[in-house]
Amino acid sequence: MTRNMPALSNPVTVYYHPGLRAERKTFMNARTVVRRQERAQKSSIKNFDRKHENIPAPSSRPQLKKIPLLDLTRKYRSIEAELRRQWGSVFSSMKLLNGSNLSAFEGEFAAYCGVKYAVGVASGTDAIYLSLQALRISTGDEVILPAHVPAPVIEPVIAAGAKPVLIDKAVGDYGPDLNGLRKAINPRTKAILAVHMLGLPCDMQAILEVAQKRNIPVVEDASQAQGAVYKRRRAAGWGAITPMSLGPVKNLASYGDGGVVLTNDEQLAQYVRLLRVHGQAEKYDHKIYGWNSRLDELQAVVLRLKLPTLDRDNARRAAIAAEYSKCFADLPVITPPQFFDRTSVYHQYVVETPHRDPLQRFLESNGIGTGIYYPVSLHQHQAWKAKKLPAYSLPEAERYARENLAIPVFAELNDEVREYFSSKA
Ligand SMILES: Cc1ncc(COP(=O)(O)O)c(C=O)c1O
Repeated sequence: MTRNMPALSNPVTVYYHPGLRAERKTFMNARTVVRRQERAQKSSIKNFDRKHENIPAPSSRPQLKKIPLLDLTRKYRSIEAELRRQWGSVFSSMKLLNGSNLSAFEGEFAAYCGVKYAVGVASGTDAIYLSLQALRISTGDEVILPAHVPAPVIEPVIAAGAKPVLIDKAVGDYGPDLNGLRKAINPRTKAILAVHMLGLPCDMQAILEVAQKRNIPVVEDASQAQGAVYKRRRAAGWGAITPMSLGPVKNLASYGDGGVVLTNDEQLAQYVRLLRVHGQAEKYDHKIYGWNSRLDELQAVVLRLKLPTLDRDNARRAAIAAEYSKCFADLPVITPPQFFDRTSVYHQYVVETPHRDPLQRFLESNGIGTGIYYPVSLHQHQAWKAKKLPAYSLPEAERYARENLAIPVFAELNDEVREYFSSKA
C-alpha cells in the first residue's frame, strides 16, 4: 500500500512517492539506500501509483494551502511592536553604528555562547574573512575545508589569497571526513575550516585532535548552528575562532546582513575589532589596514530582541525534526544523523534520497516548500573551474549534493506540523 501522509492543514494531502516505500523499518546506510533506490528508480519516477490509490492529479485538486520552506513574517509579527518601538529610539538618537545596542548584544551573545569575546561584523562572509586575517592567513598558505559547504565559506579563503584544499564529507555525518583531513595536511596548511552544517555541530574534539598535533588553528564556522550544543557546551569557541553569519534566514537572524566573530583569545578579538573599523584604535589612528565591517544598531536591536527566545525556537525546530524522523523511519530515505553528545538546532531538516528531484517536484506540487543545501559541491562550481583549481573526486560530497532535500522546519511552523502529525497518529 502506498503510504500517505495527512494534510499539514486541510485540504493538502501529501502522498509519499512509492519509490520511497519501505517494506520494513530499517536503518540503512548510504550505500544500501543508493543500491535500493537505483533499482527502484528505473520503474518508479513517473509512477506515482495514482491508479491504485485514486489520487487526483495536482491540477484537479482544490486550491492548495502552501507550506513555505521558511516564513520570516511570522517571527517578525511576534516582535513587531517592540521592534518598532526600539528602532524608533535608535532613529531618534541617530546613533546608527558602533552604539550601545552593539556592545550590549556582543556581551549578551558571548555569555549565551559561553565564549569570552563576541565582535559584531557586517556578515558571515566578513566574519570568516576577518577571522582568517586575524590568524594572518595570506598568500601561499593552504586552508582545508569540506566540499559540501556553501560558497561563502570558500570566498574568504580565496580573498585572503590562500589556497583552498578540499576534503570530502564524512559518511553519516555533516562534518568533514577525518581521514581525508589527516591526508590533506602538509607544512603549508595554516588553518582548518570546520563548518557546523544544517544545525549539527561537527565532531570538534576529533577535528581538534588532528589539528592540535600539528599546531594548526581551527576556524569553526557556526553560521548554521546558533545555540547548538556539543559535549554540553555551545558549538562555539571550540576552535581558535568562530565566525558566524546572523543573516536573515539563520536561527538567530537579523533583518538584513549581520555576523559575529566569537573567540576566547583576547588578541584575536582585539585584532578583529581593529579590522572591522579600518584598523583604527581611535578616530584616524590607523594601527593596521583593515576593512569596513560593522553590525549596525538596527540589526543589533533585532538580535537582542530575538536572543531570549532562541533556545525555545530551537527546541521547536528539534520537536518538529523528531516527529519527521519518527514518521520517516520506515522509508528508505536517510534522515538527519543524530549523536548522543551533539544537539542539532535543525537549521534545516534534510532527507537524502536518489529520488530527490522527483520527490521535490512532488512535494512542491502538493504545496510543500523545499530547498537544497547545497546542490553543487565547491569543486564543481564554475568559479572553481574558472580559477583552474585542481579537479577532485569527492564521492560523498557529490552524492550528498545530488540527494539532499530540505523540508520546512522553522519554529513558527509548530502548530501546522503538530496538526499534521496528530491526524496521522
Ligand atoms: C555555513 C555558512 N557560512 C557562511 C555564510 C555566509 O554568511 P553571510 O550570508 O552572512 O555572508 C553562510 C550563509 O549562508 C553559511 O551558511
